[in-house]
Amino acid sequence: MEFKVTRNPNPTPASEREEIIANPVFGAKLTDHQVVVVWEKDKGWHSAEVIPYGPIMMDPSAAVLHYGQEIFEGIKAYRHQDGSIWTFRPEANAARLQRSARRMALPELPAEIFVESLRQLIAVDGAWVPTPEGEKTLYFRPFEIAAENFLGVRAAQRAEYRVIASPVGPYFTGGVKPVSIWIALDSARAGKHGTGEAKTGGNYAASLLAQQVGYENGCSQVMFLDAETSTYIEELGGMNLFFVYRDGHVATPSLDGTILHGITRDSVITLMRDRGIEVQERKVSLDEVREGVKTGDIVEVFACGTAAVITPVGTLKSSVEEIVIGGNEPGRLTVEMRMELTGIQYGIRPDRHNWMLKL
Ligand code: PLP
Ligand code: COI
Repeated sequence: MEFKVTRNPNPTPASEREEIIANPVFGAKLTDHQVVVVWEKDKGWHSAEVIPYGPIMMDPSAAVLHYGQEIFEGIKAYRHQDGSIWTFRPEANAARLQRSARRMALPELPAEIFVESLRQLIAVDGAWVPTPEGEKTLYFRPFEIAAENFLGVRAAQRAEYRVIASPVGPYFTGGVKPVSIWIALDSARAGKHGTGEAKTGGNYAASLLAQQVGYENGCSQVMFLDAETSTYIEELGGMNLFFVYRDGHVATPSLDGTILHGITRDSVITLMRDRGIEVQERKVSLDEVREGVKTGDIVEVFACGTAAVITPVGTLKSSVEEIVIGGNEPGRLTVEMRMELTGIQYGIRPDRHNWMLKL
């Protein structure tokens, strides 16, 4: 698909851009351009364009504003030491965007258009990709919205795919310091046959109230349990979880329909299995974790995701308890996996699985 490119006539001055990318705050500043591709039921995908960054003109009756028919992705561009710009497993994000689209009755964007949209944005905004020190990257936010003006409740017949990008530093500003997690005992994110596996705005909207309570209690993320029995650990509001046992094996909640299929999760499982570590994908109950931490059987807990990379979890907290893991210090495997994954992404460790794509 050909992309029509219209350059921003008033781009951010270079000095201002350099200042922003030297010290980026997650999602606070956006680059100078965006990608738009339109879909209409009778025409398919068309009108691919790179245009100046700016507001979306939208009719107040646009379906996305009323019924939340929206999906998104999160993927990063990494600058290597030689200045080249790379991304990580884009075909996995493209495939997940398609799965999210199917669940939310939105059109599936062909994977080639997804990858090309990242290339097109980098072609005009490549200068926004920071140098790698301090784990800086350019975070792409591809998303799809129902853009039909119609108040009837049905799948929209017009949709838009867009990509915007923001230079980012670590999601958690404390660096590799362990984070505290609030256990949502009375709030669920996703239920059986619901939309938990889709990366759709509604799942995040459902998590915000618990997130607010978490913040009030000194926690930076919320851990959700299964909606039916509040017994099994699912995931955080924006990350997957891993539990490291003293005997060397690792467990992570299985993908049973309600949690996001994290690409970092999948990559970490692969890298650990490469090292001969046994990784169990199974149900993990809060009781098991509470007991395991108490007896010393569980020695590390970490969260992972594109934004958060790999972040140690130091404390799990609720209104009734506080579970402190590994003396609230980052665990050995957590730190090693973080170095290995970021090493691959920044081009300083071998990419044995061909995960990196040059943009
Ligand atoms: N779980 C949720 C709810 C998320 O929002 C994310 C972030 O994208 C993840 C897990 C981790 O997924 P990934 O590793 O693909 O970024
Ligand atoms: C990501 O990691 O890409 C996410 O979408 C999670 C969110 C916390 C920003």
